[in-house]
Order: sequence, then C-alpha cells, then structure tokens
Amino acid sequence: MIDIHTHILPGMDDGSPTWEDTLEMAQMAADAGTEVLAATSHANLPGSRLSVQDYRKRLEMFRALLREERIPLMAVEGMEIFADEHIADKLDEGILLPINQGNYVLTEFALNTPASFIYRISDRLLERGYIPVIAHPERYECVQNAVVHIYEWYMMGTAIQLNKGSLFGRFGRRAAEAADSILRHRLASVVASDAHSPVVRTPDMSECYRLLGVNYGRSCPKLLLEENPARIVRNEDIVREKPVPYVLKW
Ligand SMILES: [Fe+2]
Repeated sequence: MIDIHTHILPGMDDGSPTWEDTLEMAQMAADAGTEVLAATSHANLPGSRLSVQDYRKRLEMFRALLREERIPLMAVEGMEIFADEHIADKLDEGILLPINQGNYVLTEFALNTPASFIYRISDRLLERGYIPVIAHPERYECVQNAVVHIYEWYMMGTAIQLNKGSLFGRFGRRAAEAADSILRHRLASVVASDAHSPVVRTPDMSECYRLLGVNYGRSCPKLLLEENPARIVRNEDIVREKPVPYVLKW
C-alpha cells in the first residue's frame, strides 16, 4: 500500500512527538503492508513556522533511521497545506511542498470552511497546474450538509482523500456517513491514514483495506490504497471512476 497522508516526522506538528514513536509508527506501517508513505507535516497553518530546510533535514534523518533499523519503508516528501489565497504562489516559490515534488498538493481546509472557499482555492490551484488533493473532506461541515459538493470538486479535477478513521466512525457519525456516501458514489480517489501516533490515529491500514473490500467491492481497496496513491506519488494521472451522480430531491 501507499499512504499519502501521515504526520510521522517527530516534533514538526501535532503528530509523532519523538523519534521512538516515529520508528514505532514506521514499523507498524511496514508490518501492515505499507511500502511507501508521504511524511506530510502540517504547513501554512496560521502561526506555523515550518521551513522547507528544517522539514527536509528531518526527513533525511528519518530515511537514515529507516535504513539503520532495516524497516522496509520508503518515505517521500510532502506537506499537508492549510489553504489560503496564496498557496499557489508559495508552491511556485518552493516555500510549500507538493507530494514527492510532483503536481499533487495535499490541501486542508478548516472544518467549518464554506464550500465556496474550497471551490475558489481548488480552481486557482488547477489553473496554475497543481492538482489539489482535498484532505478528509468528509470531516468538513459543508460536505456533511451537502455531500453533492464532492461531485462538483471531483468533476473540476481535484482528488478526494478520505481518512481511514472516518470509515470507522472515529470522527463522528456525520463524517462516517459522508465518507460512505462519497465511496458509494465512486468519488473517492484515495484513502490515507492521516496517522498521528502509534496508539491513536495509527498508520496501520490493514483493517481499512479489508473493510473497503467488504463494503465497496474487491477492486476498491486496490484502487484507493494502491493504484491511485502510487500514481499520485509518481505524478501520474489518477484513475477516475465514472461517478454515480447525486439525484437532487426537491
Ligand atoms: Fe493530517
């Protein structure tokens, strides 16, 4: 499997607190069948001072430790970028990082963001040649109130990334229902762990793989946990299933 959303680097954000936790998470991910993961520390949050130099230094240390400990896991770079009006400029300037130096940008919005802001930011990124990977939209209130927005963002050309925890109800009933609807309508592009620690919100994707297969068909976990995230990491076009349109009820 390939996991494009993790907070595995220590001391960068609210994710892993220590190198010990980081290595435990890495071993857990590898044991569960993850081969590649993106270390997507939070970036561009108001007040955040994460610099690309610090980030890359920490990522190199992580790679060295993986080799030393013989953990069969490849770590690629990326950031979970909190959206504002200027992220395309900051990406162009190299102040913010896309996934594995490609065009896919893991983009996060506040949980109470109005849908219109997500449309606007997505549109701007697409116009500039970036592909927004919208991080866990099933957790956003505007989506929980009207999941049909996802259809529009999908048709615009964004990629939709669901969180593992949402499928298991860890972010509440409304996030679980939104995630289920997105999956049934074949609008999800990728599912990721959004791992924060080896104890809660872990990088173990094995149960998620099984659940996706049972509930949405055997090809579902292959596409969302293997094929599409691999394409994102390689900067190739993702596979877009023909979505099941929403029928508006009046
Ligand atoms: Fe995250």
